[in-house]
Amino acid sequence: MRKRPKNVIVVGGGGREHALIWKLNQSDEISDIWSIPGNAGAAELARRVPMSSDSVSNIASFSLVERSALVVIGPEAPLALGLADCCRVEGVTAFGPSQRAARIESSKRFARELMKKYGVPTPEFESFTDPGAAKAFVSLLAERGKRCVVKADGLAAGKGAIVTSTPEEAAAAIDLCLVERAFGESGQTVVVEERLEGPELSVFAITDGKNLVVLPPAQDHKPIGEGDTGPNTGGMGAYSPVPLATDELMNEIIETVLKPTVRGMESEGCPYSGLLYAGLMIHEGKPFVIEFNCRFGDPETQAVLPVIEEDLFPLLMGSATGALGEDRVIKASGCAMTVVLASGGYPGSYEKGKVIEGLDRVKNEMDGKAIVFHAGTETQDGKTVTAGGRVLAVTGLGATFDEARANAYAAADLITFEGKYLRRDIGYRLNNA
Ligand code: AMP
Ligand code: GLY
Repeated sequence: MRKRPKNVIVVGGGGREHALIWKLNQSDEISDIWSIPGNAGAAELARRVPMSSDSVSNIASFSLVERSALVVIGPEAPLALGLADCCRVEGVTAFGPSQRAARIESSKRFARELMKKYGVPTPEFESFTDPGAAKAFVSLLAERGKRCVVKADGLAAGKGAIVTSTPEEAAAAIDLCLVERAFGESGQTVVVEERLEGPELSVFAITDGKNLVVLPPAQDHKPIGEGDTGPNTGGMGAYSPVPLATDELMNEIIETVLKPTVRGMESEGCPYSGLLYAGLMIHEGKPFVIEFNCRFGDPETQAVLPVIEEDLFPLLMGSATGALGEDRVIKASGCAMTVVLASGGYPGSYEKGKVIEGLDRVKNEMDGKAIVFHAGTETQDGKTVTAGGRVLAVTGLGATFDEARANAYAAADLITFEGKYLRRDIGYRLNNA
């Protein structure tokens, strides 16, 4: 039932944005969705606009002309470029933090210093521009039996964190950033931090700068290879909810991480609204922040949104207008498991333009059991073809994780394209829990 003619813009062209469009499309309050630039899957539910998601002033002008009720900003890059600010200047309502508030992701140093100042559990860290001083800190940690992680301060497309096992590896990582400038300007400053151990958890909170609505937690699978081996990717799969995140642990995360961070940002004079993503490690039973992101996670969103029954639009609107209402936790309804289908060669180089077959079979044979979210896809001569490293995110649904997993892989196996790669072990930690 479409009542009010409200149009919404979703910025971004990945699986996360397709999932946001899929969920927003279920809202009675929305009449039309624009997708900038979107992908072949988003095009089934939204009208695509051929504009880069980084063209912040063009997007802001477009949203004004279209009188959009809300601009939902998916990726970190346009947020770090100030898209939310540009929209607000035009009088357009935007979901996502300001450029200054997005520093929580765009500067690891800013984020770590914020955590330290407001008592949010963080591994021990220091930031450096001088390689010698950075290496001296590595030695100091090593003397205390601690290993380190070396991180480029700025955005590095998920590749800026180098997890090391020896002081020599850490020194090489420091040189890679500060001397060889492998991450360009993003690596002019490095953060050297203590390496923690434990399971990871992604927790998403929608906030208007004061109140929080916490979504069901998810677990990501970053490395390319089974058993979490090989280089890190944007994420090869996820599931939601996460059994290890008991009510007690979620409460601890809300009280020790999420609330002090939102309050801290306000005290710093850059109130945070939008999605606050806490990437956590449960180290010796306690939640520590590994990183904050200023947007929904990908592929976690493709697992989280399908287990939420509630309409997403009022939540995003409430965040954007400062009217979110009281703090609460949304519980998962059922289980979801997401398996990413990638192009052969990813996260290294890969070919594009491979024809994707089997998408209709998933729709016809697995309706209600699996959803295919598109990431790097395009339409060419009437066919759907690959156009990126992560091509599709296939989410299986079920009352149990076993059912969700079986549905995810059954659907993933119906889809074919040359070079298709997927991890067969998504959710393996559930069996060890
Ligand atoms: P980040 O880009 O900061 O999310 O880091 C990427 C990945 O590196 C994380 O998902 C963790 O697996 C790992 N990592 C980052 N920081 C730490 C840390 N302090 N201790 C252990 N592992 C970490
Ligand atoms: N899946 C990790 C991220 O979105 O940063």
